[in-house]
Amino acid sequence: METTATKRRDNKKSLRVKVISLGNAEVGKSCIIKRYCEKRFVPKYLATIGIDYGVTKVQVRDREIKVNIFDMAGHPFFYEVRNEFYKDSQGVLLVYDVGLRESFDALDSWLGEMKQEMGSQANMDSIVFIVCANKVDLMKRRVVDEGEGRLWAESRGFHYFETSAQSGEGINEMFQAFFSSITDMCENGGKRPVSEVSVGFTKEQADTIRRIRNSKDSWDMLGVKPGATREEVNKAYRKLAVLLHPDKCVAPGSEDAFKAVVNARTSLLKNIK
Ligand code: GTP
Ligand code: MG
Repeated sequence: METTATKRRDNKKSLRVKVISLGNAEVGKSCIIKRYCEKRFVPKYLATIGIDYGVTKVQVRDREIKVNIFDMAGHPFFYEVRNEFYKDSQGVLLVYDVGLRESFDALDSWLGEMKQEMGSQANMDSIVFIVCANKVDLMKRRVVDEGEGRLWAESRGFHYFETSAQSGEGINEMFQAFFSSITDMCENGGKRPVSEVSVGFTKEQADTIRRIRNSKDSWDMLGVKPGATREEVNKAYRKLAVLLHPDKCVAPGSEDAFKAVVNARTSLLKNIK
């Protein structure tokens, strides 16, 4: 006979969670989920219409986790359908295609849409985010490198994985880390454990490195207007040097960003009388 104590213990062991997938259309969200749940890959593109829903059971340590997966359509056309499904998620798969820069740049607006739809309920610290740099099998067309993707993810306290739904690379590891992290969070009273968010560098440092990488010229890199004075250039340089100096900043890409800033300052000062 089942006792109350047994029931209570079993309840503690089983967990029900909701995860959603986000990212531009065609980046591979549905294929990543299919690769994990059905162990297969579909080369033909079948756009998700609104939302696809599925359930899977996974085991994390001594717990059975029932995962409700809401696979969202990335096309803007489906915004009205998507927006109802953001609430009450414990995990978010944020996917981009490493061969399409706009799909990487769009990650910020996906987070923006999610925050907006969750409204005052938005508590991003109670959600595990995992970033999938997908289609890494297509090496030749890769335009967003690992450093850039990892920096964006880790500076926000998100996990980062390189994946290929086609070859299966990284898929199981990514889902294992995802579910184990969600379980840790649930056992931690619904808060993402602190160790995951302390990556040794700040969001300001990460955003600055990203801005420097994407700057169009030396003025832009230092954040000064064309025609700025020596003093203005030096002041901007000093601010960036303090933020990015390799002795103080451990963010991936900080050394290259620091060198680029030094070179930008040198070339600007050469031309200012
Ligand atoms: P929406 O549902 O429209 O938001 O798109 P989605 O992000 O779900 O994309 P989907 O999974 O349908 O994949 C889009 C296309 O990319 C399909 O033709 C897939 O076969 C292809 N694809 C997905 N993942 C990979 C991958 O890792 N490598 C390669 N080479 N192709 C992939
Ligand atoms: Mg899809």
